[in-house]
Order: sequence, then structure tokens, then C-alpha cells
Amino acid sequence: MIAIGSDHAGFALKEQVKEHLQSRGIEFQDFGTDSAASCHYVDYAKKVAESVASGKCEKGILVCGTGVGMSMAANKVKGIRAACVSDTFSATATRMHNNANVLCFGERVVGAGLAFMLVDAFLDTPFEGGRHQIRVDMISDLEK
Ligand code: RB5
Repeated sequence: MIAIGSDHAGFALKEQVKEHLQSRGIEFQDFGTDSAASCHYVDYAKKVAESVASGKCEKGILVCGTGVGMSMAANKVKGIRAACVSDTFSATATRMHNNANVLCFGERVVGAGLAFMLVDAFLDTPFEGGRHQIRVDMISDLEK
């Protein structure tokens, strides 16, 4: 199960990403927002991040205007490694090296076609482990 959320600035792209997930047969839970009415991205970052941190959802996707505010907020939740990306190399590498569990991007930054490629790279790329596990553990240590 994939958790997905956005604020008003990411709402339209979130709806398109949901269609993309549906077309791939990937199950998701939409944590809102439900319209283009102004709201606070932090509320939705918290909902998605907590669902991933608790293990209820396997990974999360967050969309705001830039992806930056969502990633800042999501990364405050213990156990979350949120990556704000706008290129496919980084979307792939953050899975391979950082074991990112939340993907963030901005509707004002990327188009739908690129967003779908970011999502696919994020969902389809496994963590490499090995020397990268040591570094991910070091990130976790910063939460103590
Ligand atoms: C909303 O205007 C915008 O600030 C928000 O979507 C996001 O880009 C913040 O990081």
C-alpha cells in the first residue's frame, strides 16, 4: 500500500499520479487534500509520513508546489527518509543508496510525464544495502 498526499499546490498533480498508480495496478491510500483550496502542506506530510513510519503503508508520495516543504516536514517524523527530487537519476539513487521511503516533488517544478517517471523509479528500485546500510543507520542514529 502506497500513501499519497498533497497540499492545494500539488492537488492536480496528485490526482494524475493516482491515475498513474491505478494504471499500474498499485494500491494506494489518499490522505488528502481533497481540493485546490488553500491548506497547510505540513498536515498532509504528517499523515503520510506517520502511515509509513508505522508500517501501515510501505512507501509514501507527497506533492506540493516545490516538494521542498513536504520533504522538510516528512523528515521530522522518526523513521522517515523523504527525498525531494526532480530528476530520474536522483529518484533511482535515493532508493539504491538512501533507502528513501517517501518521495516528494513539486507540481510547479515537474510535469506529469516526469512525475510518473519519478514515481516508477522510486517504486521499482530496490535498496542496495551493504555499505549504504551503514550510512542509513547513521542517519537513524541522528534521531536518537
Ligand atoms: C504553497 O504555496 C507552497 O508554499 C507549498 O506548496 C510548497 O511549495 C512549500 O514548500
